[in-house]
Amino acid sequence: MITTDITLIRERLNQGELIGLPTETVYGLAANVFNSKAVANIFTTKQRPTTNPLIVHVASISQARALVKRFPEKANLLAKQFWPGPLTLILPKNQSVSHAVTANQENVAIRIPNHPAAINLLNQLDFPLVAPSANPFNRISPTTAAHVDAYFPSIYTLDGGACQSGVESTIVGFEGDEVVLLRHGAISIESIEDCVGRILNRTAATEHASLPGQHKKHYAPSCELIVTYEPLFMLSTVKQKKVGILWYTSVQIESIHVDVNLVLAPTGDLAEAAKNLFAALHTMDQMGLDLIIVERLPAYGLGITINDRLDRAATK
Ligand code: TXA
Ligand code: MG
Repeated sequence: MITTDITLIRERLNQGELIGLPTETVYGLAANVFNSKAVANIFTTKQRPTTNPLIVHVASISQARALVKRFPEKANLLAKQFWPGPLTLILPKNQSVSHAVTANQENVAIRIPNHPAAINLLNQLDFPLVAPSANPFNRISPTTAAHVDAYFPSIYTLDGGACQSGVESTIVGFEGDEVVLLRHGAISIESIEDCVGRILNRTAATEHASLPGQHKKHYAPSCELIVTYEPLFMLSTVKQKKVGILWYTSVQIESIHVDVNLVLAPTGDLAEAAKNLFAALHTMDQMGLDLIIVERLPAYGLGITINDRLDRAATK
């Protein structure tokens, strides 16, 4: 059920229910971080392994500080620069955060979302909100209230329009004096390095699921998906009946006989491509295609994040 009634949403949360939460990245499936039944319900509703920890969404830096033992200097710099915004910080939790939320780790993931409805809601609550993306485990992330409603029709989703960033937050942790990148996301590595200098990239190491929650297969449509710099060449090699091609900036004319052609960003703007990515995959997923071919994006800035999501969607 989709609603704009923030009072209703607040009541549901106060009663320990789950709700669909708009953020600037993707919609979340949110609950009271301090309600253990509600937290457990997130894992069952999403069919998410309990080894995969949740992100805590707070209204302010002081609310974040209340959940952790330490806030390293570089975390402080990053929070001041990017919060509210799509940057998640991994920090040492204190006893107020349960091990169910962190999948038994001593660290907790925290961010302040940059969405007016989310901030308004958080300001009206006495507790932060845990919120993983509002998709069943491994499925395509939701960037509209309608996407969430299609997955979870019995849950109230607060309608906040289409998500501005369209891909999940960038996640960083801290090791001594170093900042460590754990997930590519809506803030590019370049922007983070402008703020704190060189950072360590641990995203490749986590692909083998040695760290919690970094499953290689993710964001997947129901049919096969292939990512390539040469969509037309790929098209010439496949025998599938119904094929869709998702292009970066424009449709190549030889592909007119394909069942569907979609374009991510006519101007080539990578932020626009990120914003449109999951919605385009949802659209194609609903068309009963046998195969989706996606043009790989240039490997810089948000192109790295988009290629990461596409490679995971392509994993069998
Ligand atoms: O943009 C986002 O981050 C969205 C919106 C709703 O805020 N949320 C999101 O949550 O993407 P989710 O659950 O789909 O992905 C969160 C990921 C987990 O898969 C895990 O890899 C990482 O965050 N994570 C959470 N807690 C962690 C921790 N304590 N240590 C390391 N990684 C953690
Ligand atoms: Mg997710």
